[in-house]
Amino acid sequence: MESSKYYFKGSPILHGDKSISHRLLMLSTLIRSRHILINLPKNDDVIATINTLKTFGLIHICEKNKDIFDTTNFIFKDANIDCNESGTTARLMCGFLSGTGYNFTITGSKSLLKRPMDRVVKPLAQLGVNITSTNGKLPVNIKDGYQNFSDINYKINIASAQVKSAIILYAINSKRQCTINGKIQSRDHTERLLNNLYKNVSFNKNQIVITPNAIINQKRFNTKIPGDISSASFLLAGAILMQGSKITINDLVINDYRIGFIKALKMMGANISISKKEIRLGEDIGNISAIYSKNLKGITIESDQVSSIIDEIPILCVVAAFAKTQTVIKGIDELRYKESNRVKAIIDNFKSIKGLVRVKNDTLIIEPNKKLHNTTILSFSDHRIYMAFYIFNLVLGNKLENEKSKKICDKSFPNFFSIINEITHERI
Ligand code: S3P
Repeated sequence: MESSKYYFKGSPILHGDKSISHRLLMLSTLIRSRHILINLPKNDDVIATINTLKTFGLIHICEKNKDIFDTTNFIFKDANIDCNESGTTARLMCGFLSGTGYNFTITGSKSLLKRPMDRVVKPLAQLGVNITSTNGKLPVNIKDGYQNFSDINYKINIASAQVKSAIILYAINSKRQCTINGKIQSRDHTERLLNNLYKNVSFNKNQIVITPNAIINQKRFNTKIPGDISSASFLLAGAILMQGSKITINDLVINDYRIGFIKALKMMGANISISKKEIRLGEDIGNISAIYSKNLKGITIESDQVSSIIDEIPILCVVAAFAKTQTVIKGIDELRYKESNRVKAIIDNFKSIKGLVRVKNDTLIIEPNKKLHNTTILSFSDHRIYMAFYIFNLVLGNKLENEKSKKICDKSFPNFFSIINEITHERI
């Protein structure tokens, strides 16, 4: 956007990845010790996971540059678990608590009560867990989950990391040998962490094998969580769209199942580069640089690419609105079940910005329109919708901020506004 009033410059430091953090916290309980985490994100969702684990005796000591998690007295017992607004906490907890031999009610806040849970409840029930949902939603009840000692063989039929992780966590805590195949091509942080920290999981693109009793010699972990690539996507998009921008974000997780957005930007002709720096926690970690890029072209995202870009589709739509040609995103159905119905949220926001979007079956089509408008954001109380359309407004020279919107970002990116303020410069 030649006319943009603002541009991004700098090297913002990002909090640790939310997906990895949920899993690290749950997996810290497998070894009774004092684990040290650096760069833990203090967003509402991760705090929800910490709080659920505190029910069982996890102690969290927050120090200046690190968080200590003492699992010495961690022990399962019958409990009511409140996941607040975190869908990942709720779905992963269904698996994590199944097979421990206790009774649980898993619930959450009003908005979480609307989200589908049967995608994890049904597979766990099929595997012998006495688990039920309430009309497909929370509260979920687990009764004396540890009933079955036989090996697990499960074929996953939905490419969802949450479903896959729930089954893996069930196998681990019920101490069952487990083989999973089918649609396992989704973010694989659980597999990588278990393989790296405890050596009790082996995996490739077709199969995951869990040998829970193989946990060996691991005393405690002391690790830095790589930066959150989903949070980074908003900043990278802004840099690409605003003339004069150049940013670098270091130490991000660049797991292949998480960089669909970066690959999409490259296909659109954006000036964005990834350099791999190291492997930590079994994850590829690297730096990403993005520079203002003129003449972006539209692209087609196929259904099988969607899981690697699932949380970034709102911001991809914003970038696509500025492209010179049509963008087509196939297989968008899953987007209807996120923090909001994101298909509807994208369509409604496009209406108010005068963007051109239509949905045909499960395909979203965005056409270029030179006369885009900045406007107030219809957030649907959804952090990723809010941040995506915040960037849209910024590109058109409109800096929005109010107390209510700050609260929305707390779900995944509490310092969104302070980082935006740090890297935003006004053209003189
Ligand atoms: C997540 C997986 C994705 C993603 C969600 C976080 C995870 O959901 O949308 O924000 O941490 O496992 P699905 O696995 O249901 O696609």
